[in-house]
Amino acid sequence: MQTVHTLDPLRSAVAALRARSGGSGKIALVTTMGALHEGHLTLVREARKRAAGVVVSIFVNPLQFGANEDLDAYPRQLERDSALLEGEGVDLLWAPTVEAMYPAGFASNISVTGVSEGLCGAARPGHFDGVATVVCKLFNQVLPDLALFGEKDWQQLAVIRRMTRDLDLTLPAADNVLGIGTVREADGLAMSSRNAYLSAGQRAEAVALPTAMRVAIAAIEAGADVPATLARLESDLLAGGFGSIDYAQLRDADDLVLLDARADRPMRLLVAARIGSTRLIDNMAVAPAKS
Ligand code: PAF
Repeated sequence: MQTVHTLDPLRSAVAALRARSGGSGKIALVTTMGALHEGHLTLVREARKRAAGVVVSIFVNPLQFGANEDLDAYPRQLERDSALLEGEGVDLLWAPTVEAMYPAGFASNISVTGVSEGLCGAARPGHFDGVATVVCKLFNQVLPDLALFGEKDWQQLAVIRRMTRDLDLTLPAADNVLGIGTVREADGLAMSSRNAYLSAGQRAEAVALPTAMRVAIAAIEAGADVPATLARLESDLLAGGFGSIDYAQLRDADDLVLLDARADRPMRLLVAARIGSTRLIDNMAVAPAKS
């Protein structure tokens, strides 16, 4: 695996990778902020299945951290992450310096309205602008045929797809921005680097999140009233050990429009809730009503 930290060597390495892939082989990009866990490695394995060349980026993006969020405390473990990626057969690691990504004078911002509003966007103003801006740059730097993102961050995926469509990006095209299903622990809890912050007791209680979501989805799909079902979901979480709920909402899966009744198109149940000081998010598909 080759590792590069600045743009010119990246461009040469991507060109060499394309040439090695016979020119017609696809290149896949998995973007990360490092501190890799099984969820990231699943994306890498899915990329490997779909492409001749796999590029992974590791960049802790200052633009997506709010003033009250501790950018400096974000784990940086390049050596460990590098070894994991090497073990997965990754071809190229793009680990830009902050100066390479945002040289002096950098002054642009990509803001995707609509899908970035509400949900996690409400609690983290400017966060999705930072994500859209860095992902657009990463796409333009690597020019991958496809890019893979975890469905666990459903709103982020929706923002990136919207940005890719709206800006007419072709490498990757919007259809090649792929969402990969959430990787879950044996008891159903979505894998997340935040799970490491949970005490043993909180970890045991955290399973209330996927469990209550599945109960709510079964009720909605059986025709139950949506607002009443979401209220029940919130009280199940509070009874299960969660301290507060940021949101529990039913939304259109694609444009994230808020729904108060089951629709005849793909929907998503999205929840963010706090257990102790740890904020967990999850989302699951809700089957459309037959029209
Ligand atoms: O999901 C993440 O790790 C980040 O938001 C991303 C997409 C790598 C952009 O910095």
